[in-house]
Amino acid sequence: MRSLVLHKTDKGKKYSDLFRIEETSLPELSDDEVLVKVHFASLNHRDLWIAEGAYSKIRLPVVLGSDGAGTVHSAGKNVKNFFRDDKVLIYPCRNWGESEDFQDRSFQILGMPDNGTFAEYVRIPQSALYKIPAHLDLSMASAFPLAGLTAFRALYTKAVLKKDDTVLITGSGGGVSALALMFAVASGADVFVTSGSEQKISKAVSLGAKGGVKYNNREWSKELLSLTGNKIDVIIDGTGGKFFSDFIEIGSYGARIVSYGATLGYPDRLDLHKVYWKQLKILGTTMGSAADFRGMLDFISDKKVVPVIDNIYPFDEFCKAFDRMGNSEQFGKIVMKINTGE
Ligand SMILES: NC(=O)c1ccc[n+]([C@@H]2O[C@H](COP(=O)([O-])OP(=O)(O)OC[C@H]3O[C@@H](n4cnc5c(N)ncnc54)[C@H](OP(=O)(O)O)[C@@H]3O)[C@@H](O)[C@H]2O)c1
Repeated sequence: MRSLVLHKTDKGKKYSDLFRIEETSLPELSDDEVLVKVHFASLNHRDLWIAEGAYSKIRLPVVLGSDGAGTVHSAGKNVKNFFRDDKVLIYPCRNWGESEDFQDRSFQILGMPDNGTFAEYVRIPQSALYKIPAHLDLSMASAFPLAGLTAFRALYTKAVLKKDDTVLITGSGGGVSALALMFAVASGADVFVTSGSEQKISKAVSLGAKGGVKYNNREWSKELLSLTGNKIDVIIDGTGGKFFSDFIEIGSYGARIVSYGATLGYPDRLDLHKVYWKQLKILGTTMGSAADFRGMLDFISDKKVVPVIDNIYPFDEFCKAFDRMGNSEQFGKIVMKINTGE
């Protein structure tokens, strides 16, 4: 089978120097595992962070990729509910643990240390396989797992989104943000965005956002408050950095601020007076439990949510896919077509 193998990590190097598509042997299955033929896999920023060496305990060589949709190829002898050619979606968390509130210390994500979905076949425990919502094809389905799960838990499990909430989703072009936008709009909330470009703000508005501002405008927070009528009940953010101090300023009394990432690093100040006086809730979140994943799939089926797919690249053009994310050019999920067949 063909696999995209990461051999070394380096921030400054071209992706073609770090990864190679190679022939590798088919993984051996245990009794509870399924061999999934990966039709489509989507990228997450995690894949770039790992290639850049930004994580600790990176094991090489490795096949990255946390998101994939495909068909069942074969199965271990204890697998009773999945049959050859069944279409399946992969839950990317491993060892979430017993609590719905947080993951176990042994928590892992598919695609490092275990080999992931950037390969023609991947072995997956049967408990991590789900049927695909009927209105989605395999390319659409592959856009959801990691980013959709993160967005869903942030909005519903953590912020407990209500219909009359005004929601700010920062960096609307990102994979998690674009799916958060789709979910929040489907819930009937008033959604506003920030982004690095006017085109991405227009795209967000075409998908149901009420408006947005460019985060690189000096007065972005004032502009935003005038658009929302000074009401921001929920903030869903993966960028952090200096913006996080602004969220404390602009959140309404009782606002829920959910942090799922820190692409820009950490804030250098946090006005604690405003945190307690406005009774803000600052909530951290990471991916989600199997119950969150099930909840997301039910929500997607119920509301007929379709993901925002930026581009689908042939497997051999993986460098273009990685470059597009590295340059923040995308709006929504970047997908690679791994196997032919759909
Ligand atoms: N905790 C978790 O479970 C979890 C799950 C998924 C992701 N994450 C983290 O969340 C972050 C986003 O992940 P992703 O996969 O959605 O990445 P992505 O698709 O590459 O999105 C990058 C995001 O960063 C924004 N951005 C880029 N430059 C910026 C700048 N100078 N100022 C403000 N925003 C900027 C982009 O906004 P525009 O394109 O609109 O300008 C976009 O929203 C990453 O740090 C990732 O590691 C965490």
